[in-house]
Amino acid sequence: MAVERTLSIIKPDAVAKNVIGQIYSRFESNNLKIVASKMKWLSRQEAEAFYAVHRERPFFKDLVDFMVSGPVQIQVLEGENAIMKNRELMGATDPKKAAKGTIRADFAQSIDANAVHGSDSPETAAVEIAFFFPQMDIYAGR
Ligand code: PPS
Repeated sequence: MAVERTLSIIKPDAVAKNVIGQIYSRFESNNLKIVASKMKWLSRQEAEAFYAVHRERPFFKDLVDFMVSGPVQIQVLEGENAIMKNRELMGATDPKKAAKGTIRADFAQSIDANAVHGSDSPETAAVEIAFFFPQMDIYAGR
């Protein structure tokens, strides 16, 4: 299986809950290596640009408001099948529908405050990683 990289964001609700370490532990125990990491309080302009593909969706303003409500923890995860593996660990967008034991089932309270973001395809992962990390700030995980 291919070694991939994916972009992960621990959102303001989970940062405020003080569960960054618990979420990192799930990545590590599932063979996802953290190869870049930073905490950042996004500006409105950054959040709008990051979520530009959702600009026309009815929840866009709520999503941006939430993402600028506090600092986020942003990381690049590397590992075999990293994109889908991270999506599985995250669980469904709506925590009420997320499978038991997933990050969203355990740490999120609502569809708008849903603890984590993860890239959904190799194309998206490449764009999202480049949005936050220059190549020189990403370290090989092997
Ligand atoms: S996903 O995760 O892309 O498959 O899900 P999608 O339904 O396409 O949602 C895209 C992102 O928008 C967030 N979202 C919402 N935010 C606020 N309010 C409502 N109602 C809402 N519905 C969806 C969802 O968490 C996705 O954010 P990310 O950061 O990509 O997970």
